[in-house]
Amino acid sequence: MSTNNEAWGSRVGLVLAMAGNAVGLGNFLRFPVQAINNGGGTFIIPYLVCFLLMGLPLLFVEWSMGRFGGARGHHSTPFILDAMDKKRHFWKYLGVFGLFTNIAVAAYYCYIESWALAYAFDSVMNVFGGMTQEEVAAHFQSYVGLGSTEPIVFWILCLALNTWVLSRGLSGGIEMVAKIAMPLLIMFGVLLAIQGLTLEAGEKGAVYDGVFGLNWLWEPDFSTIWKADVWLAAAGQIFFTLSVGMGTIQCYASYLRSRDDIALNAMSAGWMNEFVEVVLGAAVVIPISVGYFGIDKVVEIVQSGGGFGLAFQTLPFLFHKWGEVLSIVAGFSWFGLLFFAGITSSLAMGTPFMGFLQDEFGFNRKKAAWTFGLIILLLGLPTVVFYNEGVFAEYDYWAGTVSLVVFAVAEIIVFSWVFGMEKGWEEINRGADIKVPVIFKFIIKWITPLILLAVFIGSLPGIWDAITFNANSGYLAVEENKPYIIFARLLLMGVYVAICYLVWIAYKRRMKEGRET
Ligand code: TRP
Ligand code: TRP
Repeated sequence: MSTNNEAWGSRVGLVLAMAGNAVGLGNFLRFPVQAINNGGGTFIIPYLVCFLLMGLPLLFVEWSMGRFGGARGHHSTPFILDAMDKKRHFWKYLGVFGLFTNIAVAAYYCYIESWALAYAFDSVMNVFGGMTQEEVAAHFQSYVGLGSTEPIVFWILCLALNTWVLSRGLSGGIEMVAKIAMPLLIMFGVLLAIQGLTLEAGEKGAVYDGVFGLNWLWEPDFSTIWKADVWLAAAGQIFFTLSVGMGTIQCYASYLRSRDDIALNAMSAGWMNEFVEVVLGAAVVIPISVGYFGIDKVVEIVQSGGGFGLAFQTLPFLFHKWGEVLSIVAGFSWFGLLFFAGITSSLAMGTPFMGFLQDEFGFNRKKAAWTFGLIILLLGLPTVVFYNEGVFAEYDYWAGTVSLVVFAVAEIIVFSWVFGMEKGWEEINRGADIKVPVIFKFIIKWITPLILLAVFIGSLPGIWDAITFNANSGYLAVEENKPYIIFARLLLMGVYVAICYLVWIAYKRRMKEGRET
């Protein structure tokens, strides 16, 4: 029944696609904001600890789960988890998270991606030339406030582009885009980082040296290191940036052959993401904005407008202090970089549901891609239309934050304790091109599950605040938006239930046809 015989074209293509999956808006927008909000230098310690003890282990786990599932004809997490536990039948409904997260995140993520596309275009057209800081900020406000048709046009263009690439498959579509986008993205990033770091006080209107911002970011302030919030934020950032706990990596890895290396590939893609995040992601927005505004003002901008405040409302204005030509080059590089980072991630989000439709319902690739595109259009529409009413933030919170942790807890239990660490270790090492330090066996069995449980338990008060609209929870809870927020929640729940239903139908069919699950 499965029509799914996709495969990666080359190892370089695979690693670039995986790195493209991980390197996303999270690296350039979310990371600096998290770092600024959580004490700069102090954030980095919990962040690195979470990377080593939670991120890397989860990469090994997800890559090997994916390859294991792919060898049995499963390309999405419900039936991958099912195949890992022969006794219990409920895991597949937790595996639904691996489809749900991707669909719900893609629904709002593509919208940000489309802003980047529009802003790259606007930069070339020199739209921001001569605007004051307030005008640049107002431009963004009216943009997301649906003052014009421009956002809708770019959003639909962006969805169509994603769908088209997806319909061309792994090697002909995703791999091709990754091979073009990743090198360009790194080039743009290096170019902007050089600009940021060589910015000198008194030159081009700058008030401080660019490196000043970087020093501040890296200077440890140990007074916050024992705060649970900082650790939760660090863990959340590791999840989001590495794309773990989402089901995307499993899907990509399911298209490997059973003896292909995963250990070195997982390391390469994971470290490439960290380089792009910690080195490039930190060296663009912060040095440039600190160079002009100083630290206090930058903290203020971030606290009021998040990463979008800096990226979309501030940088286009600052670039214009560099002269017309350079400002156009910088604007195009910055938004082009964001767009490339975004599209290689949103493409990844499309693959699990497509794989599921191909495996279970015999869809061909084109039909699967267009089905996904249509769902994203429908589900994304409320985030576009009710952006200012908090619908966007609501999707980001439930799908882009909470779901990742819940799913990661489930998968690590299945992997380390149900499937079993002996078998798991064998999976990780089969075909490995590097020797994975044996300490990881211990970490994956004990440390990672304990950290994940701690993160999950630690998040519960925040989740409760969100559910009960506790005004102190910080991220929304604007009383007048309640109807929109409730609508968004019901919609997301509806999507989850609908996918469970599809999984149930697929499962019944498998039983009837006597196929292995
Ligand atoms: N890692 C990406 C980033 O840093 C985001 C991402 C990729 C993602 N795949 C995902 C988020 C799947 C949720 C689900 O921007
Ligand atoms: N599909 C597996 C097998 O055939 C076992 C299995 C997993 C299963 N989940 C199930 C069997 C649910 C019946 C019902 O060996």
